[in-house]
Amino acid sequence: KEEFGDLVASLPRKSQFLDGRLYRGFWLPEHYAPAIIAFNRRFTPRPDDVVLVSYPKCGTTWLKALAFAAMSRYSYPLAAGDHPLLRLNPHDVIPFVEDVFTDGLDAKLEMLPSPRLINTHAPYPLLPASITAGEGCNCKVVYICRDPKDMVVSLYHFMRRLQPELSFAGVVDAVADGTVPYGPMWDHILGYWRASLDCPDRVFFLKYEDLLRDAGEQVRALAAFVGRPFTDVEEAAGAVASVVELCSFERMKGLEVNRTGTAGSYKSLPRDSFFRKGVAGDWANHMSPETAARLDGIFRDKFRGTGLAIPAVG
Ligand code: A3P
Repeated sequence: KEEFGDLVASLPRKSQFLDGRLYRGFWLPEHYAPAIIAFNRRFTPRPDDVVLVSYPKCGTTWLKALAFAAMSRYSYPLAAGDHPLLRLNPHDVIPFVEDVFTDGLDAKLEMLPSPRLINTHAPYPLLPASITAGEGCNCKVVYICRDPKDMVVSLYHFMRRLQPELSFAGVVDAVADGTVPYGPMWDHILGYWRASLDCPDRVFFLKYEDLLRDAGEQVRALAAFVGRPFTDVEEAAGAVASVVELCSFERMKGLEVNRTGTAGSYKSLPRDSFFRKGVAGDWANHMSPETAARLDGIFRDKFRGTGLAIPAVG
């Protein structure tokens, strides 16, 4: 915080429901801006690192659980009654970069065994150059996106835990004008989308809706992407289904560890705020057709010509 305090203080500021600072085209949450800049300047990737990235409320928790279960399946057998995901919230299993660097604990990342799994909401242009330079990306990056309308609903419910007075219209407006934390959301998504086209062996682009449709298919692809494909023997033993089941919404939401206490990486929030409904299309219960059309129109315009189609945005 001290190291980049002056820099952050000099940046344009806007107070939405979270104070934001405009840094290289993105509204970073003020309290995380120094950490994101520190990550950007100081982090050194290993070739087998896997960086899990999301726009907030787009499926971070689910992706963390799935990636951890799939990647650690030789160390932690999926059927084991003491699997870490039965005892720990996914946010306590995979470090959140913004917290690690806020707490000045980046040296701890050096001590993690390979392959490391880390997580951030940083936009692609703010990933460390050590990751994005050269051929395109020097480790593996997995990104998850979601229908922005469902993100809005999820963010609203999440933030209301901290700010009960928050209005739904206020969240919609912040997303629509791009000043939402980590926004503009369309640029966040497009940065990773383009990187996944430029460098498909290094950047893997997932959609929350595709996970809902067929989580097994996505888990197979994810495991292959990180160099740990499921073997025929594992397939025959139902390993992919075991990963999906271990990380299913009902299972995770029902666990004692996910119902009580606060998650290590989001200390002010109860863990159960990461498991609300876990569906696609809940926006229809919250927004008028006009509001839905407004958001769809914005994102459709921004995505035009990019080849990206988000379900329900089209
Ligand atoms: P809803 O609020 O729409 O229910 P994030 O993890 O990025 O904060 O995103 C949270 C959203 O993902 C919430 O969406 C939450 O319910 C959903 N979610 C969390 N775990 C999930 C799981 N295992 N399966 C499906 N959705 C999940």
